[in-house]
Amino acid sequence: MSQSYIQQLFADRIGGSGYGLGTEIYKFEKIKRAKRAALTANPGAELIDMGVGEPDEMAFPDVIDQLHSAAREPGNRGYADNGGDAYKHAAVRWMKNVCGVDSLDADKHVCHSIGTKAALSILPYCFINPGDVALMTTPGYPVFGTHAKYIGGSVFNMPLLEKNHFLPDLSSIPTDVLKRAKSLVINYPNNPTGASATPAFFAEVVAFAKQHNLIVIHDSAYAALVFEGKPLSFLATPGAMDVGVELHSMSKGFNMTGWRLGFVAGNELIVKAYADVKDNTDSGQFLAIQQACAYALDHPEQTAWIAEKYSRRMDSLVGILNKHGLAAKKPKGSFFLYVKIPKAATKNGRRSAFEKAEQFSHWMITENLISTVPWDDAGAYVRFSVTFMAKDMNDEQRVLGEIDKRLASSSFEF
Ligand SMILES: Cc1ncc(COP(=O)(O)O)c(C=O)c1O
Repeated sequence: MSQSYIQQLFADRIGGSGYGLGTEIYKFEKIKRAKRAALTANPGAELIDMGVGEPDEMAFPDVIDQLHSAAREPGNRGYADNGGDAYKHAAVRWMKNVCGVDSLDADKHVCHSIGTKAALSILPYCFINPGDVALMTTPGYPVFGTHAKYIGGSVFNMPLLEKNHFLPDLSSIPTDVLKRAKSLVINYPNNPTGASATPAFFAEVVAFAKQHNLIVIHDSAYAALVFEGKPLSFLATPGAMDVGVELHSMSKGFNMTGWRLGFVAGNELIVKAYADVKDNTDSGQFLAIQQACAYALDHPEQTAWIAEKYSRRMDSLVGILNKHGLAAKKPKGSFFLYVKIPKAATKNGRRSAFEKAEQFSHWMITENLISTVPWDDAGAYVRFSVTFMAKDMNDEQRVLGEIDKRLASSSFEF
């Protein structure tokens, strides 16, 4: 790209005049390059992609049919803005029927989002002034923190450690940070650790928020993808509606990542501020998409079917990884399996030592054509996603058998 005066105009928040000129290669680009190189070195080989963070299948056919007919309705053609009663009311029903939360009023406590990502990018504008701190967890989904920093805030990251069941240690936040903190962002079932929260942890979060005047944002994008029992909503915690909101998404639980719809539910004042800033950010999601998603929310058996598939894949994958010595433990939900890396691996007489997850992940792609996502933020782990492509259940078993075979050709040290 040719240089021009435009290079001098970039805002500091994205790097100022140095924007785009750095040579650092980011994690996902490194993975992409390693995958390309592995395929070039092994022409015609199958690369098993366990790195993808989205479902491998389409939305259910009856939901697509709903979209088809709703898209033909003239009344659905215009800007939705913050409206869309069908979806709002379906969200309230879903929260009650699936999550056991019956305190929501569709007019006061719910507003749709163009996906959880969009909601996480809007909410900082409601609360963060320059100098304010956003409390977040790491490793994690950084969007709220990125926008908080864009507007002069800063992020205090709490590590998610295995010894704490991947829950943040709230007592570890320094007093001076807490004084400047306004928001606490948590996410369960968690990406990337797959961990679930507990009612006791949520109760602790409510008490902590009240004690330190914090708002709580619970990113619940994987909410209904649970392998046993019912989804645990933060809003089911006594007092949660006084302090926070929960973000729900159609993406993962209904195979609808590209459709871009979710909702923000909870505290009336937070929802109102979100809706006000949203109104100045987007013009709402297409009403036909909202109506098809309302139909989906009334069919939670679709999520149960998806969760069952992931659970079955998890069982097999955990068994295979354990067989080869990797300490994988099936999570209670999500589609992520978060596994501590080995110290070294030997294949064809060649020993490779790993200090960082990035090295192990690179070795897995290069030597086994299995792609994972490395996380070095709080210990060295790789994330296997059970959303790998498989045509049917037989193919699924074939892919898992292939993983087993490939790992069997190596020995691991821990
Ligand atoms: C933790 C977490 N939050 C939010 C999102 C974004 O979800 P949506 O598709 O609803 O924007 C993702 C997507 O990967 C995620 O992992």
